[in-house]
Amino acid sequence: MLEDTKISFIGSGAMATAIISGLCEQGLVAPQHITASDPSTAQLEKIRQQYPINTTSSNLEAVKEANIVVLAVKPQTLRAIGKELKDELHSETLVLSILAGSTIDSISQILRHDRIVRVMPNTPAQVNKGMSVWTCTEQVNDTQKQQSQAILGALGEEIFVESEKFLDMATALSGGGPAYVYLFMEALIDAGVHMGFSRDVAQQLVYQTFEGSVAFARSTDMHPAELRNRVTSPGGTTAEALYQLEKGGIRAAISKAIWTAYKKSRYLGGLEKNG
Ligand SMILES: NC(=O)c1ccc[n+]([C@@H]2O[C@H](COP(=O)([O-])OP(=O)(O)OC[C@H]3O[C@@H](n4cnc5c(N)ncnc54)[C@H](OP(=O)(O)O)[C@@H]3O)[C@@H](O)[C@H]2O)c1
Repeated sequence: MLEDTKISFIGSGAMATAIISGLCEQGLVAPQHITASDPSTAQLEKIRQQYPINTTSSNLEAVKEANIVVLAVKPQTLRAIGKELKDELHSETLVLSILAGSTIDSISQILRHDRIVRVMPNTPAQVNKGMSVWTCTEQVNDTQKQQSQAILGALGEEIFVESEKFLDMATALSGGGPAYVYLFMEALIDAGVHMGFSRDVAQQLVYQTFEGSVAFARSTDMHPAELRNRVTSPGGTTAEALYQLEKGGIRAAISKAIWTAYKKSRYLGGLEKNG
């Protein structure tokens, strides 16, 4: 699907490196068809030591021959990129943006370009376990959609959605998701230390419990509530802990947190008046 496709990265930090690594390791694109652009020569050298890709400090040079341009800078750099690239992209070039919070409209106006894929990835993409939710403009053709799917597949799982509104939902759920999971993990580890486990042992218990629980849930058709019931003996220790969590309002707190994050994402994208 991506054979003979030239892919250029504008910004070559953590996320670009993760995508380049996925593409090269999985043999989806020949390294000589990849170009990474970044102001930091040290960063470019670091990637080049791993993969024999082309590197440049000129964004203009990077996009010249590219079929796909991946925007992987911080969102606040988008305007500067737009000034540089707005009249330089071929009309059929696909722009794939992973910038959090930058809407298709804003990217389109800033770059004066209409073939755009917008993706909401998450940080586990850096170990190829990401969850990417993406959508695109109607000018993106079927081949380009399949190419986008292949690129995002190199980062983990991907889901295409018809409307950008789902990206605001994904921002709240899977985009911020790792932060919520880490908070829960941190609290559990601290609770383990409070009881008397060493921090290392508490961490091992918690990491493996998360990994095992996800693997088990994925291996069965059972609803999470049923899986939870199976661990909860009547009058037992788990029932006691769950009672305390529910009494503390954990379920309502989670629901409210995600809803508020969704509204905030819409506000930042200019879709809601109050943030
Ligand atoms: N990290 C994640 O897991 C994650 C998850 C979801 C979404 N995202 C989105 O992915 C994007 C990239 O995130 P990241 O974590 O990879 O950031 P990052 O590591 O900071 O990488 C951005 C790179 O862009 C470079 N850069 C700055 N100005 C540039 C310019 N004018 N032209 C070309 N390159 C330029 C930066 O160089 P300097 O450091 O020298 O400035 C840096 O190397 C962000 O927009 C973020 O919202 C990231």
